[in-house]
Amino acid sequence: MNGLRYKISKFIKPDRFIYNVKPFIYNDNIGNLDFTIKDKQVILDNVYINENYRRNKYGSFFLEKMENYVKKNYQSKSIRLLSYYQPVFESHVLSFFKKNGYVVTYKNAKIFENGQCYEDIYYIDKKI
Ligand SMILES: CC(C)(COP(=O)(O)OP(=O)(O)OC[C@H]1O[C@@H](n2cnc3c(N)ncnc32)[C@H](O)[C@@H]1OP(=O)(O)O)[C@@H](O)C(=O)NCCC(=O)NCCS
Repeated sequence: MNGLRYKISKFIKPDRFIYNVKPFIYNDNIGNLDFTIKDKQVILDNVYINENYRRNKYGSFFLEKMENYVKKNYQSKSIRLLSYYQPVFESHVLSFFKKNGYVVTYKNAKIFENGQCYEDIYYIDKKI
């Protein structure tokens, strides 16, 4: 991938490591990826690719890079997408993660007293 580089910020907390990764193509910021590592478990957050760069495999490429990095540097064995962003899974995002080897390991819906569903909770996990 020509011209690709990353701006990486790493924050060290007593109980976890937090990364913010911004990929650039030349001077164009094309997206974002945040992840936290706590006890070898990786939690993914804010995964996005800017609209005009989508469907070119950048999202899959960055996930794979991150997976290799946490395996090598933290001996991580699993990754979970942070679950409070769940409304997005009604859209194409679930298919994107499934294509990248993630599986739904838990699904539930919180229901209002009047029976109206207002929030689906999914765990989207990958063993690496
Ligand atoms: C989800 C997202 C990161 C995917 O990035 P991307 O670089 O376009 O994804 P890729 O090109 O690597 O796609 C890999 C596969 O995922 C699936 N996919 C990606 N975008 C899709 C879409 N809009 N509709 C259906 N499937 C899609 C495709 O099957 C694709 O493979 P294929 O085209 O060979 O069949 C991007 O669409 C995005 O930023 N969305 C908005 C933010 C978001 O919802 N983030 C996730 C929650 S934090």
